[in-house]
Amino acid sequence: MRKPVGIIGGGNIGEALIAGVIQSGLLSPEEILFFEPRVDRRDYLRGKYQALSAKSNVDLVTRSPIIILAVKPQSVPEVLPEISRSMRKDHLLISICAGVPLDYLQSFCPLPVRMVRAMPNIPALIQKGATALAPSPNAQAEDLSTAEAIFQAVGITVIVKESLMDAVTGLSGSGPAYVFAVIEALTVGGVKEGLSQEAALALTTQTVLGAAHLIQSTGKHPATLRDQVCTPGGTTISGLYAMEEGGFKLALMNAVIAATRRSKELGEALQKPISTAPPGRTKPVGGKGSSQKSG
Ligand SMILES: NC(=O)c1ccc[n+]([C@@H]2O[C@H](COP(=O)([O-])OP(=O)(O)OC[C@H]3O[C@@H](n4cnc5c(N)ncnc54)[C@H](OP(=O)(O)O)[C@@H]3O)[C@@H](O)[C@H]2O)c1
Repeated sequence: MRKPVGIIGGGNIGEALIAGVIQSGLLSPEEILFFEPRVDRRDYLRGKYQALSAKSNVDLVTRSPIIILAVKPQSVPEVLPEISRSMRKDHLLISICAGVPLDYLQSFCPLPVRMVRAMPNIPALIQKGATALAPSPNAQAEDLSTAEAIFQAVGITVIVKESLMDAVTGLSGSGPAYVFAVIEALTVGGVKEGLSQEAALALTTQTVLGAAHLIQSTGKHPATLRDQVCTPGGTTISGLYAMEEGGFKLALMNAVIAATRRSKELGEALQKPISTAPPGRTKPVGGKGSSQKSG
């Protein structure tokens, strides 16, 4: 991997990546350069990880062959014009900005840029993330391997076509919130049946973790595992029947569909700049991207 790796934005995911690549041994602290505008945050990241802090985004781009764009989507029209003139053909730009298409990023840059779009999720903070990666048409095999290595430091990766990134946002990007809701509901069910809040939450969380690990470690389909735990006429099938009556599976499928649709809408609301004018003069038309939220 070419070094140093530059990270623009030292927020939640920026920090998770710094922590992950160091803890996994992929990079040493002096092989990471970051830029974060907030001085207290910059000092915190430098102190905690001993990573190098760049003087500016342009300084970072000049010194790093690999750049990870880890700012909020609404900051893209500010950051891209600032760095685009310093980007060379051999730079690799990895963007984690939710809902921001690669051609939108390219539209700010005068030269064709090799890019990978990544969609991680919040468990990346504890190195248990699930990240989908989509390369730009001009990205090379080495670029995708680089992105895989970086995101495997904070969890697992899958490669998808960029057109499926909205579906990824609707599934794994938003998915932790669905699982939090499931855990919350199961816990309340336990409390309703007399368990303490503490015991119900501990039992539920471990049950969800254990069930997920079982799927990963056996490689079995969840429906197969479900059949294994359902005694005919028993308790579990009675519970599952009640879930079906409440439309549980349909509700989750609809959650993914609704979030995917919303991600598409937000992506379509982003408009490209009129031209790749010099830094400071490039403005996105309408600037509707400013209404975007992450994930
Ligand atoms: N969090 C998630 O679960 C998640 C999941 C998937 C994808 N993402 C994507 O990941 C990206 C980062 O999300 P996040 O949760 O880490 O957001 P965040 O915590 O707000 O981090 C963004 C960081 O970028 C900094 N920043 C703002 N303007 C900048 C500039 N001009 N140059 C350099 N840095 C700048 C911010 O500093 P200030 O605080 O001073 O503004 C902040 O520290 C977003 O695009 C989001 O869509 C997030």
